[in-house]
Amino acid sequence: MSATTVVSTGSTGGSSSTSAGGATAAPLEHVADAVLELRGIRQTYGTGEAAVEALRGIDLVVTRGDYLAIMGPSGSGKSTLMNLLGCLDIASEGQYLLGGVDVSSLDDRQLAKVRNQQIGFVFQSFNLIPRMTALANVELPLVYGGVKSAERKRLALEALDLVGLADRVDHRPQALSGGQQQRVAIARALVTSPTIVLADEPTGNLDSQSTDDVLGILDSLTKVGRTIVVITHENTVGAHAARVISIRDGHLVSDRRNRPLGATRGNGAAV
Ligand SMILES: Nc1ncnc2c1ncn2[C@@H]1O[C@H](COP(=O)(O)OP(=O)(O)OP(=O)(O)O)[C@@H](O)[C@H]1O
Ligand SMILES: [Mg+2]
Repeated sequence: MSATTVVSTGSTGGSSSTSAGGATAAPLEHVADAVLELRGIRQTYGTGEAAVEALRGIDLVVTRGDYLAIMGPSGSGKSTLMNLLGCLDIASEGQYLLGGVDVSSLDDRQLAKVRNQQIGFVFQSFNLIPRMTALANVELPLVYGGVKSAERKRLALEALDLVGLADRVDHRPQALSGGQQQRVAIARALVTSPTIVLADEPTGNLDSQSTDDVLGILDSLTKVGRTIVVITHENTVGAHAARVISIRDGHLVSDRRNRPLGATRGNGAAV
């Protein structure tokens, strides 16, 4: 396939030469401070009569430190978009730059590395390993990343402390509440210091108290400059995000900002 395209992130001048629209093969120009850039993204499942166009031309730029919610009805394409953003799948058409790198040019090995180092996943069903303690679960992405044992433990303890679970590090998942399990999963997502935290219905399996806890943690992450993308059906979750996009039938139909980039929810000042 084609060679890896790395678009420079370090341009010095302010010359933002706007590319003339229409030239489909033109490389996507990297937007300063953008961590995710999607241009003309289409995703089609199957072929011929049975083909389903799940995404029909998505353009989206997400800036570093933003907190984005992706909303839309069932079947609108949210999980399809999540799979692309998380480099679990490659789009049929269009360009996707993650941290300035065109992921469509990467092979499976490189994609696995990108997922490990640049993306922190949080799933609806926690996806913790039952036999392992909270600490071992959080250390896992660092094991795959080849980080040495002492450093792994230090980083994992730091992440568990950040989600308020310093006193539960030796507990296995079954000895933790659903909300605590999701907090372990968030610590696991953070431990590699990823470019983005990508959460798919992170509160879908939680009671209202645990939902508040998890949303509070996501709020605190945004205060320290993390970039968060959350997929949700729930308006209460969307209300925490700084920006909300809606998709319907594979199209981006609205893009609304709840508050300016960098501003935090409620009366708390940005850290
Ligand atoms: N692997 C697949 N093969 C064929 N069609 C698929 C596949 N995955 C998704 N689709 C179709 O693509 C469209 C978008 O699906 P997607 O799972 O992205 O929706 P969603 O917004 O996540 O829905 P939900 O809220 O129900 O999870 C749907 O019409 C779905 O049937
Ligand atoms: Mg879905």
